[in-house]
Amino acid sequence: MKVGVVGLGTMGAGIAQISVTAGHETVGREMSMELAERGRATIERYLGRAVEKQRLSGEQRDAALGRLALTTDVSDLAGCDLVIEAIAEELEPKRELFAELDRITRPDAVLATNTSALSVSEIAEATERPERVVGMHFFNPAPVLPLVEIVRARRSSDAAVQTAYEWAEQAGKRPVRCNDTPGFIVNRILIPLLNDCVRVLDEADVTPEDLDTAMTNGAGWPLGPCALVDLVGIDVHVHASEALHTQLGEPRMAPPERLREMQREGRLGRKSGRGFYSY
Ligand SMILES: NC(=O)c1ccc[n+]([C@@H]2O[C@H](COP(=O)([O-])OP(=O)(O)OC[C@H]3O[C@@H](n4cnc5c(N)ncnc54)[C@H](O)[C@@H]3O)[C@@H](O)[C@H]2O)c1
Repeated sequence: MKVGVVGLGTMGAGIAQISVTAGHETVGREMSMELAERGRATIERYLGRAVEKQRLSGEQRDAALGRLALTTDVSDLAGCDLVIEAIAEELEPKRELFAELDRITRPDAVLATNTSALSVSEIAEATERPERVVGMHFFNPAPVLPLVEIVRARRSSDAAVQTAYEWAEQAGKRPVRCNDTPGFIVNRILIPLLNDCVRVLDEADVTPEDLDTAMTNGAGWPLGPCALVDLVGIDVHVHASEALHTQLGEPRMAPPERLREMQREGRLGRKSGRGFYSY
């Protein structure tokens, strides 16, 4: 299969890595060659680590990197069987991109969006053939976390859903199917639950260490909720909470004040060196 990945940022680089490692010729499209090269460097670094850990041979890494082509020109995606979009989380740019992809790709190519919080159906409606548009929601870091939510939009065809599902499975991921509802599966459940955890810190006057100890030892969580929010990034979690709250309106979905404060102070979790914990 020939695969296109649009946007080689945090998620796109990971998705392109999955694709080339699974043996697919992959075209990565970015806004500039500099950004595209940065995406390639990220992939090279991760594959290098896999070689060090002896999960991949040097030849396999070179072959995988050899399958990656970079471009800034969307028309280079014309021959793709599957295009996965991972650009910024904004509706209009995504709709414009899908309209363009719809014009230039073969009518039977599948177009997928990695959106976390936008409506896949609204993105699909920007095309003339919404039946071939689906969601493929990967989790960060995409090469590490197995899950891919395969999202059926209002008019997605069974064939498009099946193509996306089988591609993910063949690439070694663990796909599951769901409808196009706010937060899909994991975020719909996890975001309000993590917000509850943060609220309990203040309500029950518990330290983040004790809260994490409680959930890992009392509920069998593999990682404490405060450590998890630090890993996800306070800003990413707040943004996702706001999106879910706007769409579904449950008070527990709104980001707790404590998280907003941390965001204002630049305590964004692991990536800034400080969140609930220091790194
Ligand atoms: N970061 C996460 O944890 C996460 C998890 C799951 C899904 N997502 C979703 O994945 C998508 C991408 O998120 P990200 O965190 O990788 O963002 P990012 O900002 O790291 O990367 C986005 C990249 O897209 C590029 N870009 C923007 N417009 C483009 C266009 N028209 N053509 C080509 N490239 C373009 C930007 O230059 C940037 O490099 C969003 O929809 C987000 O909601 C993110």
